[in-house]
Amino acid sequence: METLSQDTKNILGLKLVTDPRWVDLASISLKDILSDHAWCEQKAATSCITLISKYSNKEKLVTELAPIVTEEWGHFRKVLTEMHKRNLTLGPQRKDVYVNELIGFQKKGGSPEERFLDHLLTMALIEARSCERFKRLSEGLRDEYMRSFYRRFMESEAGHYTLFINLADTYLPKEKVRKRWKEWIDYETGLMQSMEVRGDRIH
Ligand SMILES: [Fe+2]
Ligand SMILES: [Fe+2]
Repeated sequence: METLSQDTKNILGLKLVTDPRWVDLASISLKDILSDHAWCEQKAATSCITLISKYSNKEKLVTELAPIVTEEWGHFRKVLTEMHKRNLTLGPQRKDVYVNELIGFQKKGGSPEERFLDHLLTMALIEARSCERFKRLSEGLRDEYMRSFYRRFMESEAGHYTLFINLADTYLPKEKVRKRWKEWIDYETGLMQSMEVRGDRIH
């Protein structure tokens, strides 16, 4: 029986579990999954840099996200190494429907505080869903090497999810964070249900 970290157990609080067909489709399109995954890590790193630039007056946020930039960039390089081993190249970035739809749910007219909260919760949700997808890959792929490859990402992204929630709790009232998080989870559940199950992308 595998032991999961508490961070990963928390992820399983996501309402909707990935359609089991997704891992089978992903295993057939591993080349596309790797490229898409690399871009996800690249975006994770740049999103943390954006947060640091935007909220540079928030000391804890700056201190805690600075090493995450390095970590996500390390993830990007790890995936790139796997691609090069297979003679694959990164290729162009695809349109990220999942992330675009999440951004569409962010409050546009709210207070700066509400926009800040939505920014952190968007990041938390992307980390949570990525972790859940990596968990499926770490359990469902036939190749043992790739299963352990994705297991390491799973644990790491779970830690990031917790970090973003903790940052929200640091700067905003906990009840407000919980209430809005629930709205995000419900929205994401509907979004996942509406999206086509495709094996060529992480989300
Ligand atoms: Fe990552
Ligand atoms: Fe992450």
